[in-house]
Amino acid sequence: METRPLEKSDDIKDLVMSLLGDVDAGKVADELVLSFLHDDHYHAFGTKQGDHSAAFAAMKCDPFEGANEVGEIVFLAVEPLQRKKHLGRGLVRFVEDYAGKQGIRKLYVITGVDNIGAVCFWIQQGYSFEARMRDFTLPGIDNYYMGKTIRCCGTAVGRYGPLR
Ligand SMILES: CC(C)(COP(=O)(O)OP(=O)(O)OC[C@H]1O[C@@H](n2cnc3c(N)ncnc32)[C@H](O)[C@@H]1OP(=O)(O)O)[C@@H](O)C(=O)NCCC(=O)NCCS
Repeated sequence: METRPLEKSDDIKDLVMSLLGDVDAGKVADELVLSFLHDDHYHAFGTKQGDHSAAFAAMKCDPFEGANEVGEIVFLAVEPLQRKKHLGRGLVRFVEDYAGKQGIRKLYVITGVDNIGAVCFWIQQGYSFEARMRDFTLPGIDNYYMGKTIRCCGTAVGRYGPLR
């Protein structure tokens, strides 16, 4: 297995589809794959076994207006048969290392409050609860914002200066 930044030609559709409950999951997955691999706002990473993607993660830099030097892991999935073998942990460490080198000091992730396995996973990776967003992804569906400081950065002031 090798974890690395992905190329436009990497196949990640099955992994993207594995997180979609939508009736039109195939179409939504195609749109997401296009964004993750072709839109410069995203950085895509995969754990590959030859040509096969066993795990996939996507990160967005500066996802929040007014925040400085923060990133968001917007997608993480390990294929079902490969779970609980530390692929997720290894991929998140790779993303954190990459993000730190890009000047990101803090990473966020949004997870469903009912996704207990994912919440446990993120706590294990050092992410803490920062907010509960009510009716966030859909009415009646709450999400947690979890965050982790990956790099201390002295007194640097970001693009917009500190907002108060
Ligand atoms: C969440 C997910 C990415 C974890 O990947 P993984 O490769 O199976 O996780 P790892 O093997 O690296 O687990 C690392 C640690 O996280 C914890 N963990 C992982 N999955 C867990 C689960 N289902 N329940 C409780 N703890 C879990 C364990 O403590 C584990 O360490 P240990 O094996 O030494 O005890 C994977 O289960 C997945 O793809 N889930 C579906 C998609 C999803 O929910 N993504 C997250 C969206 S925010």
